[in-house]
Amino acid sequence: MNIQIINGPNLNLLGIREKSIYGNTNFDTYLDELRKHYANITINYYQSNVEGEIINKLHEIGFSFDGIVMNAGAYTHTSIAIADAIAAINTPVIEVHISNVYKREEFRHSSMLAASCKGVIAGFGMDSYRLAVENLLNG
Ligand code: DQA
Repeated sequence: MNIQIINGPNLNLLGIREKSIYGNTNFDTYLDELRKHYANITINYYQSNVEGEIINKLHEIGFSFDGIVMNAGAYTHTSIAIADAIAAINTPVIEVHISNVYKREEFRHSSMLAASCKGVIAGFGMDSYRLAVENLLNG
């Protein structure tokens, strides 16, 4: 089983950025734990702050991988282009958010991507990623 995690803009700063919202753990540390927990599957990781690069990644892997866990950061709320890319590929995408976006500013309540995704997981901290991987594993 081949799974891809994609993190969008500003998520390279996890562990540094707005710790009261996103926590103290940097993503590489979390990823090590996740990979140990799911030692029998391949969890690939890609992060970009650039919308077009995220779209290129979806095109590159979206016809061969088993699942994609995507935190598109603020592009979640704005990007028709990423939504179109998700709709264009075959691999199921799960939208994840570390924070509970529904408890936050109103502009975070809407997702351009959700309708093209298998489902959405938000508000469980870093564990949002594991919950998404668990779902992909269970089909
Ligand atoms: C986020 C929520 C978004 O609204 C925000 O722009 C992010 C992170 C989250 O994981 O909670 O960058 O996707």
